[in-house]
Amino acid sequence: MVLRHAEVVAAATDPQTFSSRVTTRRAIPNSLDGDDHAAFRAVVDRYLTDERVAREEEQCRAHAAAIVDALPRGVTVKTIASVGTPYAVRSQCTWLGWPADLEDRLVEWIRDNHAASRSGDRDRTREVAERFDHIIRELLDLRRDDEAAADVTSELLRDTVDGRPLTTDEIVSVLRNWTAGDLGSLATSVGVLVHFLASTPEVQRQVRALVSHDDRAALDAAVEEILRIDDPFVSNRRIATRAVELGGEDIAEGGRVLLNWTAANRDPLVFGDPDRYDPVGNAADNLVFGAGPHVCPGRALTLMELRVMLEELLRRTTWIELAPDRPQVRETPPMGGWARVPIVLR
Ligand code: HEM
Repeated sequence: MVLRHAEVVAAATDPQTFSSRVTTRRAIPNSLDGDDHAAFRAVVDRYLTDERVAREEEQCRAHAAAIVDALPRGVTVKTIASVGTPYAVRSQCTWLGWPADLEDRLVEWIRDNHAASRSGDRDRTREVAERFDHIIRELLDLRRDDEAAADVTSELLRDTVDGRPLTTDEIVSVLRNWTAGDLGSLATSVGVLVHFLASTPEVQRQVRALVSHDDRAALDAAVEEILRIDDPFVSNRRIATRAVELGGEDIAEGGRVLLNWTAANRDPLVFGDPDRYDPVGNAADNLVFGAGPHVCPGRALTLMELRVMLEELLRRTTWIELAPDRPQVRETPPMGGWARVPIVLR
């Protein structure tokens, strides 16, 4: 397990030595290397440009506003179950053009996927992944016959890589990696952000001021810095293609390596006191969205979605505090972030 910032960056930016081909299953683009990765990464990047992300903002705002307006004031509410998860699922369904009635199945899937990851049981993880593939294949079948459909999912069905159409397996894999990235991490990130603001009054006051001045760049920086301090997206795997030394440790050819973003983001050699909130000073070293050729293509989408949720949550309340009657509960490793963040909205 690689914990130091310098070594995590060194490994993430040296894909010849630290390959992403960690399983026999082909995950697109996550498990690809070299030219193969670059070809599929170009496809993925086309769907996540700043311009396309900006087009989603209005819908996300409507979802965020409706969710916050529906919450009672002055009593305990659940941040992840009542805010993070419905927001992630509704924003994702609108983006991909998926029907709203899929919401319950996706919410159930997020829960089972978390439970499977927590259990470390590979059979269970495989069963949950297969169930997700099944949902996606049903959606693809519905769209295949509808040439007029103009949503992102239909666009993928007509898209090409190296001059040929994507296969169904490839489309399913692309959608699985978007969804796994989006749904789980987004819901968990809402938990981390709200917990941080509720437990750090001076930062909540600063962020409320940024919202009222509509300072979007500063809000994005605040979101990324809070996620650095308490990074819920813990780690990614690599496999050594040759014998190599990293941070004084010898790794054999074929050796399995875990890049721990959460630890690297709190490395005192880089950040001093890792809990010190400094969005500007720490921005250049922030590893929440990774580094190197596999750096997260969903960064702009994520930051927009989280900023919009914070804007609506803070505009529609005068204060957020941790619930006095119920404890906050940490996620169980290897998951990061919080399992439960009960709060009271004022
Ligand atoms: C809080 C939210 C998110 C966090 C913290 C996050 C973090 C990361 C990190 C650290 C990586 C690097 C993985 C590696 O080096 O092996 C990554 C890759 C990736 N992320 Fe995200 N992500 C988030 C949201 C999203 C969203 C919204 C999407 C898509 C809609 C997405 C899609 C992907 C994909 C496809 C990759 C693989 C890229 C490649 O292999 O080239 N992520 N993400």
